[in-house]
Amino acid sequence: APRVFSGIQPSGNLTLGNYLGALRRWVEMQDEGIPTVYCVVDLHAITVWQDPEKLRNAIREVASAFLAIGLDPARSILFNQSQVSGHAELAWMFNCVARIGWMYRMTQFKDKTAGKNAENSSLGLLAYPSLMAADILLYHATHVPVGEDQKQHIELTRDIAAKFNHDYGVDFFPMTEPVIEGVATKVMSLRDGNKKMSKSDPSDMSRINLTDDADAIAAKIRKARTDPEPLPETVEGLAGRAEATNLVNIYAALAGTSAEAVVTEYAGQPFSVFKPALADLAVAHLGPITGQMQRYMADPAEIDRILGAGAEKAAAIADPILARTKEIIGLISSR
Ligand code: TYM
Repeated sequence: APRVFSGIQPSGNLTLGNYLGALRRWVEMQDEGIPTVYCVVDLHAITVWQDPEKLRNAIREVASAFLAIGLDPARSILFNQSQVSGHAELAWMFNCVARIGWMYRMTQFKDKTAGKNAENSSLGLLAYPSLMAADILLYHATHVPVGEDQKQHIELTRDIAAKFNHDYGVDFFPMTEPVIEGVATKVMSLRDGNKKMSKSDPSDMSRINLTDDADAIAAKIRKARTDPEPLPETVEGLAGRAEATNLVNIYAALAGTSAEAVVTEYAGQPFSVFKPALADLAVAHLGPITGQMQRYMADPAEIDRILGAGAEKAAAIADPILARTKEIIGLISSR
């Protein structure tokens, strides 16, 4: 049976990249009536040190974003990872299935340790993909909607599932499919068209946060880096123009259309015309989300209640799968 799982880290502000690359698709899948499980992956966030008070707030902020974009706790399971202990337990078992070399090959690990002494990063940062595989496989999820940057982690999840099945001579864990679709699977930084828009980028001008107000959004788009040429007459004319391509793709994703259609509409127009139109579109989309998030954030006890109720529903799916995994491995659980 199909089941969707996806997760997002509570590490700083949510960005337009998170929204267009992943979260928006999560809502569509919920609305298609597929069983959906969506998780605030707080255990992933602590692979680098987080201030406890800020972490608590960030977890609630992501949960309020879930609700604000239209995820519905009556139709999707919404919870935070650390409340379902099966994630950490299965991750340990997968640590014993996966190979160290697989972890060193992950581009996210290489990026996060670039310019630093990797030996000095947390062991959790290296084992991060093993926990991610556990997140997905603890629910026997078949489909995982994510942005482009998570593709390698989903491939590793399949490798872990295959090796587990092979090592124990079972056909237990499914081969999960990534769902990476649309024009915004990789939204780039507003300051550098060759860098991913990221919540951890030191420059706030590089990203649009879901909590930005209309003025901030307009200012960031106005100051977004571009080349001096106007928009081309055809999409082929975007070749080699990373920043222009990014803004066109963002526009297309927000307007629910294609890059071709956007280029046709603005053919030959300067960015001084295109940028204000893009800013209006972004504000029209994000304004209501920001407002809703603020309303949910005003009642942290209610958010915690929703996460707790979601965790119970998640555990009801996870517990039998974890029990069966232990049995396959040869661990005794008699209670
Ligand atoms: P995270 O928290 O970095 O990002 C959450 C989701 O947003 C997508 N995304 C983007 N999409 C397009 N353009 C961008 N600039 C952009 N930035 C982020 C990500 O691809 C992701 O889908 N390891 C994961 C969290 C995770 C997870 C999981 C995901 C943990 N367990 C199980 C799926 C299934 C991460 O760090 O995502």
